Amino acid sequence: MVKATFALLVASMAMLLSSTVESAPIELSSTGKTIALISASEYCLLLPPNKGGNIADSEDSAISFCNKAISTAPNAKTLPSGFIKSAHFVHNTSKDYVQITGKIDRSKYDLSAGDGGGQYDLNAPHGSACAGYSSFVQFVEPDVQIYCLRCCKNKSDCPTNRSTDGCEAVLGGDYS
Ligand SMILES: *[C@@H]1O[C@H](CO)[C@@H](O)[C@H](O)[C@H]1NC(C)=O
Ligand SMILES: *[C@@H]1O[C@H](CO)[C@@H](O)[C@H](O)[C@H]1NC(C)=O
Ligand SMILES: *[C@@H]1O[C@H](CO)[C@@H](O)[C@H](O)[C@H]1NC(C)=O
Repeated sequence: MVKATFALLVASMAMLLSSTVESAPIELSSTGKTIALISASEYCLLLPPNKGGNIADSEDSAISFCNKAISTAPNAKTLPSGFIKSAHFVHNTSKDYVQITGKIDRSKYDLSAGDGGGQYDLNAPHGSACAGYSSFVQFVEPDVQIYCLRCCKNKSDCPTNRSTDGCEAVLGGDYS
């Protein structure tokens, strides 16, 4: 909150100072927050913008990382090599959602063994989206080295009100 207010203040001052110049929008962050989940070989996750970041503390700043370039997730970075250790993809056709679950190697992005992880969804980080779906829910749990992501057409299949319960309780799936 304090940071956001300060940033707004700086932004307004900058606009005042540059008011004689053609006013260009001030880009505080130009990095992608759209993820995509297409298959076990084409997927993205939101992660802290910097190596070693804490998952919950980055709920405003997290950005998109994909395993390869995906046109529907523009401006995403590339997932750190070796970070994703397994990827189990499910397309639930009756419910119309897609899900990916598996193991991570936290050391490949310097995540902390003491980080219990957290949830990202449409509200945090702001501006995030899963391409082609109306909602999503994602957990990354560095302490137990697992992750999960579900993108849904129907919001009720992507519950976001159990943010402290974690992957296995909220989404189930395969973590082998
Ligand atoms: C889809 O979701 C429903 C409801 O959770 C479940 O009963 C069904 O087994 C799922 N299907 C697949 C293919 O996972
Ligand atoms: C979304 O899922 C809920 C719970 O399964 C169901 O009641 C509702 O009809 C679904 N909505 C749509 C638009 O399919
Ligand atoms: C989460 O929301 C669902 C749907 O609104 C509700 O059925 C469920 O009881 C809620 N769970 C918790 C832990 O608040």
